[in-house]
Order: sequence, then C-alpha cells, then structure tokens
Amino acid sequence: MTKDPMTVAVIGTGYVGLGTAALLAHIGHTVTGIDISEEKINLLRAGQVPIHEPGLDDLLASVQDRLTWTTSYDSVHTADVIFICVGTPPGPDGTPDLQYVVSAAARIAPHLNGHAQVIVNKSTVPIGTGDYVQRLLEDHAPGYDHERHRVVSNPEFLREGTALQDSLYPDRIVLGGHPDALQIMARLYAPLIEQTFTAPAAAPRPETYTRPTVVNTTLQSAEMIKYAANAFLALKISFANEIAGLCERVGADIEEVATGIGLDGRIGTRFLNAGAGWGGSCFGKDTAGLISAGREHGYDMPILQAAIDINTRQRQVIIDKLMRQLRTLKGKRVTVLGMAFKPDTDDLRDAPAHDLITRLHQLGATVTAHDPIAMPRAAREWTHLTYREASSVQDALHRADAVIIVTEWSDYRTLDWNAHLKGMRGRLIIDARNIIRTPIDAHVEQIGREAPVGERR
Ligand code: UGA
Repeated sequence: MTKDPMTVAVIGTGYVGLGTAALLAHIGHTVTGIDISEEKINLLRAGQVPIHEPGLDDLLASVQDRLTWTTSYDSVHTADVIFICVGTPPGPDGTPDLQYVVSAAARIAPHLNGHAQVIVNKSTVPIGTGDYVQRLLEDHAPGYDHERHRVVSNPEFLREGTALQDSLYPDRIVLGGHPDALQIMARLYAPLIEQTFTAPAAAPRPETYTRPTVVNTTLQSAEMIKYAANAFLALKISFANEIAGLCERVGADIEEVATGIGLDGRIGTRFLNAGAGWGGSCFGKDTAGLISAGREHGYDMPILQAAIDINTRQRQVIIDKLMRQLRTLKGKRVTVLGMAFKPDTDDLRDAPAHDLITRLHQLGATVTAHDPIAMPRAAREWTHLTYREASSVQDALHRADAVIIVTEWSDYRTLDWNAHLKGMRGRLIIDARNIIRTPIDAHVEQIGREAPVGERR
C-alpha cells in the first residue's frame, strides 16, 4: 500500500487500461476507469470483466472501494495522473490509427486545471505521439500550463494471459518525459518499485523476483523502447521458425538447438519456440508500425520485413505438411485445435487459426474447430469463415482425417490421444506447437523436429 495515495484517471478499459486500473488501485491509489462504451462500463459496474484474463476479476473485485467506473471525463479534473490506455489499431498501410488517442486528449483538455497533472501515454503509439499529445493539450486546454501539465510515455509490457504477473512484477518500468513529471511517476509507482504492496492471491510474487529497474528517459526513447522490444521478440520467434525449417531438412531438432543457443546468456532461452508463428494484436502491428516509421524517414528496415515474411510463410508451412500427407484436401475433414492466438486468452486478433481455417476451406476441406475459451468470441467475430465449432474435443476429433494443433492450451497438452484417436477417420496430427511428447498411435508431424515415433510410423 502506498503511503502517498494519489487520484488517478485511467482512460480505456482494454487489456492495458484494466490492468493499469487494477494495479494502481491494488497499490493504494484512488482510480476512476473511464470508457466511452456504456456497455463496457455497465459490465464493469456489475462486477463483470469484458475480457478473459486469469485472476483479473478477483483482483478488480478486491479493490472495489478504490475503483469507480464511468463514461464521464469529469473525474479527470481532480486526477493527479491521467493514463491514456486506448487502442491504436493498425490502419490499412500498417500505420497505427491515432484517432482514439486524439479524441481522449480532446476530452481530457477541458479538465486540465491549476494543479500539477501528468498525462501518461500507455497505449503503444508511434514515436513522436507524446509530443503531439502535448501540443494538442497546449492548443485545446484552456487551463493548460506547460510547467504543470506534462506528457509522459510509460509503455506497457504485459502479455495477455499473464497480465497480472507482468504488471505487478515487471522486469523494468520505462518512463519518458520531463524530470518533474518523472518524479510524480516515481511517487505513483513507489510501492511497485519498492515492492512494498501485499501480493494478491491471484498473482503471488515469484520467489526469485526482487524489484524492477526504472529506466528514466525521454519521450521519444520510451516510445521507441516499446516498439523495439516487441520487434525484437517477433524477430526472435521468426528466427527460431527459420532455423526450424532447416532443422527439418538436415535432421536436427529445433528444441535442442534453441536450448543450445539460448543457454548463451547473450541470447536467452525464452521466445525461441518454433511453431505456428506469432499472432495477437501487438507483434504484427508494431513491426509494421516501425517499418512504416522508417518509410516516413526514407529508411529501410529489412530485418523486420524478413521477420514478417517468415511469420506469414510459417502459416503456409503447416498447410504444406498437411498437403504432403493427404495430397488433396477436397472432401477431407480437418480439425483445428485452438483458435485464440495463444493459450489463456480468448483474443482472436491475428490468430494463426484464422488464416489456417480460411486456407483449409479454400482448399476444399470441411473444417471443425475447437477452443477451450475462445469459441463464443469466434462465433461472433469469425462469421465470415466457413467452419463448425465443436462442442468438445471428442466431438472435434470425431471422424476427422487430420488434426492441426494450433494453440498449445494445457487441455491439449494433456489429451489422452490414444483414446481420442479411435473416433478419428484418419491418423494424421500436425502438431504445430510441438506439444506431443510421447509416442502415439498416429502419424505426427511437428515443427523443426522429428515427432516421438508411434507404432504406425
Ligand atoms: C506481447 C509482448 O510479449 C508483451 O511484452 C507486450 O506488452 C504485448 O505484446 C503488447 O505489446 O501489448 P502478447 O501479444 O500478449 O504480448 O503475447 P506473447 O506472449 O508475446 O505472444 C505473442 C505471439 O508469439 C503468440 O502468438 C505466441 O504464440 C507467439 N510465440 C511466443 C511463439 O510463437 N513462440 C515463442 O517462443 C513465444
């Protein structure tokens, strides 16, 4: 708990906004969560969380007395710190669309007043946006005072599915902006920096964790750190996928190779899992965003372009494996296990399963799909795709000629394959996440490695 409670407004109730509001309330601040969507605010007021994020509902419920939800910007008036956590979806050319950031700034403007207020950009925004928001406020806020109102960039590094752990126990806190404003941010985050808060039951403090490193820098560098971090992670995965393709051809095993190179502390073992490639709302948007920033300055970014191209190819690699085994997909029943872009989320944005279902249907297959959590969302958002949602894994596999494991949900890791295989028409499994660890009675294809050998091989 903070010794110095502050009043905070958090604008936007997506992953970043909800995580930020929950974290700040948990460490003792008084928080108002603002969203223009009445539907979302009504849900939150009723104690429901509009996204699937493990533990978030419990954490939000436990801080109820310090957290208010509203569609009105009035509370910005008394806020010491105002977080902008709205979406920045990619426009048609990959450039992030800033309309929500701009409209949040416009709505904040009338509420800036005589007391020191920090406006924090937590949304991932193109480099230069912090400056732009500062200028918008200067031009449109009647109460604006450049000594008292400062814009700070404080990028968010949380991952969906592990949002609580990532925000409560971060590796680093990056703060860019004027030193006076960074001091206010240091006060705000003091319990997080010192780790003096009580760990919530939903997210226990990891035993080895000590405290985050604070990186104080400029607006531009903070904005760049966010993009460069995501681009580097995307690059790492694409590198693993590129090496995996060669491993298959020369008889090496990508998992052993990844361990072997990752143990070099300069490389690190994490984010080297080959598979169906990266998806989600961030890596594609941020790599494209950096490339488009480069283009604006006449500067090529060939490594990032290659990372994107390899990721696109990786989705085809899965189809190629299927085609090699089945020759044609016409009239074949193919099951897709996993629709969310990764486990423990119902987020379907840029999910590899979307491209796979599209391609399988184009090639004449009858597609059945299953996901432990994301099916209701897919039923709403993927109405343009032709596939059937299965009621259970057993139903999904019933009479299938082939199965593709696209998302490594723990439910799929622990499947009793030998029992399920009986209901299938064929015996082909494309394990695009390398989760099958023991021989099963089927032909299993994995990425960048030989699958454990079953009796039928
Ligand atoms: C990512 C970053 O990891 C976060 O640090 C960042 O805050 C976030 O984007 C963001 O910008 O908001 P997220 O998109 O939630 O987080 O998901 P990740 O866990 O990073 O996974 C991204 C994709 O990479 C998934 O499709 C996952 O399956 C894939 N992946 C990940 C691999 O294919 N191999 C790996 O080794 C790791």
